[in-house]
Amino acid sequence: MDCLWIEGGKRLSGTLEVPSSKNAALPLMCLSLMTSAPVSLEALPAVADIESMRALLKDLGAEEAAPGQFQTKNIRSIRADYEIVRKMRASILVLGPLLAREGRAEVSLPGGCNIGDRPIDIHLEGLREMGAKIEIEGGYIFASASRLKGCHFSLPFPTVTGSINLMMAASLAEGVSHFENMAQEPEVTEVAHALKAMGAKIEGEGTAQLRIEGVSQLSGLNWRVPPDRIQLLTYLAAAAITGGEIRCRPYDQSSLGAVIQKFKDMSCQVEERREEMLSRVGNLHSTHSQLWQGAKAREYLEVSLSADSLKATDIETAPFPGFPTDAQAQFMACLSIADGSSQIHETVFENRFQHVSELKRMGAQIKLNAAVATIKGVKGLSGASVMASDLRASASLVLAGLAAKGKTQVLRVYHLDRGYENIEENLQGLGARIWRAPQ
Ligand code: EPZ
Repeated sequence: MDCLWIEGGKRLSGTLEVPSSKNAALPLMCLSLMTSAPVSLEALPAVADIESMRALLKDLGAEEAAPGQFQTKNIRSIRADYEIVRKMRASILVLGPLLAREGRAEVSLPGGCNIGDRPIDIHLEGLREMGAKIEIEGGYIFASASRLKGCHFSLPFPTVTGSINLMMAASLAEGVSHFENMAQEPEVTEVAHALKAMGAKIEGEGTAQLRIEGVSQLSGLNWRVPPDRIQLLTYLAAAAITGGEIRCRPYDQSSLGAVIQKFKDMSCQVEERREEMLSRVGNLHSTHSQLWQGAKAREYLEVSLSADSLKATDIETAPFPGFPTDAQAQFMACLSIADGSSQIHETVFENRFQHVSELKRMGAQIKLNAAVATIKGVKGLSGASVMASDLRASASLVLAGLAAKGKTQVLRVYHLDRGYENIEENLQGLGARIWRAPQ
């Protein structure tokens, strides 16, 4: 098991090429289950969760002729075992595709995780509305449907993977589906665009209301995984907390509005621009515009952030376009050395404050009252050995270590490796003194 050592106090500066998005790549990989044609994905992130999804897809019958070149000529198995699902909850994303393609699926219940109970009742309710017979037995979901039917379903909560599962299932169902209160996260919209490039008939992507007219089969796909907005904001937070200045690209301006505003509320200077990117955007742009038949090709920019001292501000997490829960821990690290007192209200997950006790060991002054954390900014943090507990909590501890006086050891960095690609190399490239060592 590895740990990360960080010697804090260095102002970060430089330019970062943003790695591609795990939370977009995972569902995009599942699209290979929905067609017997080739599905080629460029820029799959090199993170642990992608390896887990690769293994699962291969178990189910997908072949990968070359990195990212998938083809599922036939489904070989309809079973996603607990062994793999417990390690990666996003495995639930094979449920919709298996039901749609094969009419059957046996998927282990994901179980909870450190940040909450993580139920999947809405996934199952929506599939039942499409005519699926679903039973739970021995910790497994047994689902079957001769052919899924179009439905009219309003999601009780805009679940991200739930919306993606239902969108994939409805794309091959018989008839038209109307969904209300669908998640609007950019990753959901990305999958909708990819499905449309495969011939799915989807209207309303990017909004909470979707109309999907099922088709009998889908064609193949050539797609590039988009940049990871959550990794991007984590690096911007590294500049904010160290009082540095960094530039990140490519950056999708429509994906982080609430986050950019909060950086500005903390008195960071943020600049979004397109020069120096034209050639690069040109390549990206043309790649995407070739792929997005009829969809609005997205334009990528670059964003830079610089900061001196940080000002306190209040945050309330919410589904997109609100402030993302996946940025909460990173901003708490920044606010722990901001000038003044801040409140963070975590409304999406019931237990996403595991980083609080560790930040307090580094000198942060944080009080918890149910779903609200009150952070009283301190002059500075001091390095300590701290324990990572989940993906974004780990990122918050790395950020705190970058700003702290002395050395910080972050233990159990396997949590971090699930969603951050080469984090120590990227941070070293920005001037951080950070290195990996056996724990
Ligand atoms: C996705 O998880 C992301 N994971 C999470 O990122 C992210 O935090 C989350 O969306 C919210 O943005 C992937 O995309 C792989 P949800 P997901 O279903 O889809 C309740 C990371 O750090 N809910 O939107 O599992 C649930 O209890 C990870 O990269 C139901 O009640 O999240 C939770 O409170 C962590 N019933 C809320 O919705 C359901 O059927 C949000 O869950 C489903 C969800």
